[in-house]
Amino acid sequence: MTPQDDWFAREAYLTLRRLLPRLSPLLPPGEEGARFLGRLEQHFATVFRCLYLLYNNHYDFFYHLEMILTAAARLYAARPAALKALDQQREANPLWFQSQSMMGGVCYVDLFAGNLQGIRAKIPYFQELGLTYLHLMPLFKSPAGENDGGYAVSSYRDVEPKLGTMAELAGLADELRAHGISLVLDFVFNHTSDEHEWAKRALAGEEEYQNYYYMFDDRTLPDQYERTLREIFPEQSPGSFTYRDDLQKWVWTTFRSFQWDLNYRNPQVFNAMLQEMLFLANQGVEFLRLDAVAFIWKEVGTPCESLPQVHDIIQAFNALTRIAAPAMLFKSEAIVHPDQVNSYVNPQECALSYNPTMMALMWEALATREVKLLYHSMRQHFALLPECAWVNYVRSHDDIGWTFADEVAAGLGINGFDHRQFLNQFYTGRFKGSFATGQPFNYNPVTRDMRISGTCASLAGLEQALETGDALLIDHAVSRIVLIYSIALSAGGVPLIYLGDEIATCNDYSYEHNPAQANDSRWVHRPPFDWARAERRRDASTIEGRVFQTLARLIQVRKSTPALANGRTTFFDTGSEQVLGYVRNGALLALCNFSEREQRVSREALRAAWPIPAQIVDLVSGQKVSFGFALTLQPYQVVWLKAAS
Ligand code: GLC
Ligand code: GLC
Repeated sequence: MTPQDDWFAREAYLTLRRLLPRLSPLLPPGEEGARFLGRLEQHFATVFRCLYLLYNNHYDFFYHLEMILTAAARLYAARPAALKALDQQREANPLWFQSQSMMGGVCYVDLFAGNLQGIRAKIPYFQELGLTYLHLMPLFKSPAGENDGGYAVSSYRDVEPKLGTMAELAGLADELRAHGISLVLDFVFNHTSDEHEWAKRALAGEEEYQNYYYMFDDRTLPDQYERTLREIFPEQSPGSFTYRDDLQKWVWTTFRSFQWDLNYRNPQVFNAMLQEMLFLANQGVEFLRLDAVAFIWKEVGTPCESLPQVHDIIQAFNALTRIAAPAMLFKSEAIVHPDQVNSYVNPQECALSYNPTMMALMWEALATREVKLLYHSMRQHFALLPECAWVNYVRSHDDIGWTFADEVAAGLGINGFDHRQFLNQFYTGRFKGSFATGQPFNYNPVTRDMRISGTCASLAGLEQALETGDALLIDHAVSRIVLIYSIALSAGGVPLIYLGDEIATCNDYSYEHNPAQANDSRWVHRPPFDWARAERRRDASTIEGRVFQTLARLIQVRKSTPALANGRTTFFDTGSEQVLGYVRNGALLALCNFSEREQRVSREALRAAWPIPAQIVDLVSGQKVSFGFALTLQPYQVVWLKAAS
């Protein structure tokens, strides 16, 4: 312990003693209240340290601290009994989500099933796929017309009226849980929409609410900040500030102009958002996706991404959740440099995180037919603390950004800038011979940076292959989809399907005619779920059937294979530039051929990674496997090898 730690520990102890008599009356009597107090004793030191570091410069710091804990106590008192029971169950088995039976799906409520009742009616479909985790993308009240796909939230306590009500959402959470499915929702906490009550009051001139946001009378500070800021949506919302005539002020808007960044330097904002967060926890949310987490703290002269204070805020939110709603865990959405991505994944912050590095590099390996960048990056960045896990995905509702580490690329003789240019050409179909059909997203003419939109199937080559009708090209496209999903299913962590991918949904260009969507190419990969096409999943002679049935089978294999639970993943050198290999928990060896040619992996390379059993079965094909000096993989073939029992 450093003298500083010592000081914090003592100060926290004394502060808690002063606070207890004021918190206790807010708590439920007996056991229930005692449980809160027990957790408070356990986590208060973290709450205190983080909030002190963030807010001790406020003369009324102790008042804010008390208000924050009071809010947590009140929301705990309001937490439904069934969720309090879940809290205890999860606390007794904190690593429950690391099981191989975990399986995620994500969709928009309206596009997938019309509304919340529609989602409820689709539970049998989720079960058919084996889902245990369902992320419903923003379903909160948001502005009509442009609203960044719901990521501009006007009220965290109201469901968008055309989708349903908050009571229906809580009912749906219960119903899903009764079917073994955890509800996942977004916490869009970096910003609110400009129609949120707080924004409206700020617009009406109330200073208290103007302090909820970052507002500037002139360009002095915005200019200073912008020297070091990255533009996120340069095409739709250039710069990071928006001038509002009705306020005569510049407002910080990292994303779109109608998404106002919240000012976490103001402890009232922390407190207000804590209450929105615990309110959502009390509706039955089990995983909270921390949207755009990297952006929530700003400092002049820095990129304003992943600053140390972001971690203090997340740790404080996490500790308060452990106290008031411990069944809920955080999932980080940080689509940034791999070191930064990893920095949020620890027991004090997020138990889960998207794995954008692996996602982007699987597409990179498909384009190059070489696995070296994927392999070396995973060696460096895949391992997490044992209490945490990746959410492994192939596509999301967002664009693909090439966020790999330039240092890792440079070590392999790859120039990061040039390589990104190549990948962008490749995935927009401008590279001769490319199989992909994608669209550019947010080209920045200054940095020449850009990202990629497109569905999994179109980027994997299905759209082009169907145009030619060439059976071999169709096979390759289907195999590419299965290949990258097989990695998401087996690498360790929670696999996540962007619903629609399992029926090989191609790009939908109709967004180009919708004025609220036309300037955002991400809509090309967000079509309404096509239930008529989904019917064909039952027919193995259709493309939908081939993809669906193969993925559904791999999901079942995953669920019945304990070696695929989260745990140890060892990426190894297969000796082939086209083949990725990894060993899971010492017991299962996966090989993935990223090329449309046969590849061989030598027995020697396998033996260096894994004690080769006498009898081997490939769980993907269900066949026994035997080989001599080398194992041959067909084009795009995947094998999951295990000792035959
Ligand atoms: C997240 C969402 C993205 C949205 C952004 C701003 O990255 O995934 O869709 O545009 O945050 O909320
Ligand atoms: C940026 C952000 C990420 C967001 C994406 C949307 O990459 O880092 O949070 O999802 O933009 O395009």
